[in-house]
Amino acid sequence: MAKAALETDPPPDCPLCPRLAAYRRDNQSEYPDYFNAPAPSFGDQKARLLIVGLAPGVHGANRTGRPFTGDFAGDLLYSTMAKFGFSNDRFNADPEDGLKLRQAMVTNAVRCVPPQNKPTGPEIRTCRPFLVNQIAALKQLKAILCLGRIAHDSTIAVLGLKQKQAPFAHGAAHDTNQNGLKLFDSYHCSRYNTNTRRLTPEMFESVFAAVRKEIDQD
Ligand code: URA
Repeated sequence: MAKAALETDPPPDCPLCPRLAAYRRDNQSEYPDYFNAPAPSFGDQKARLLIVGLAPGVHGANRTGRPFTGDFAGDLLYSTMAKFGFSNDRFNADPEDGLKLRQAMVTNAVRCVPPQNKPTGPEIRTCRPFLVNQIAALKQLKAILCLGRIAHDSTIAVLGLKQKQAPFAHGAAHDTNQNGLKLFDSYHCSRYNTNTRRLTPEMFESVFAAVRKEIDQD
């Protein structure tokens, strides 16, 4: 008998987190033209790199339906990805812009927009099975890049690693217990982090350079 495919994305009306489902309904009334559903992963099914963000922004991925699309964080993320050959450089902050990722996929630790951009611990855990399935579905994965601590913590939980084995630090690279898979960390490319210069474009690029080197190794 054929095995059922693992769900890598929640359904549009996912009921698993009551607070997020209620917020989604509020946004459906307030912004009827928005996507207002869990944002699915975006990119190359043969990805060697998976980038894990936090969660959709209300006027970003929650509006457009594509991770990091329509808000400030995406401008730096997708332009840096293009510089390192992970896209066709067609990003125009619009899901119809023709952007195609190469060897890369972008997803979020939490797929629904959370109020004030802050998912709760239970919401992060409830959404984790989709990250589990997304990682499992990418058979050629060599590297995961976590943007910020929440993405890092959720990803190490998926990989069965303890904080002591893989503490979050900007620029860190961790071996995992999965054949050759490496985990990289960066501060999140949010407007706040870039405006305060906690994360500069140069710092972000040096993380991508390390990721690119790892992926090109074989
Ligand atoms: N947009 C996303 O999709 N994820 C983030 O973490 C930030 C903005």
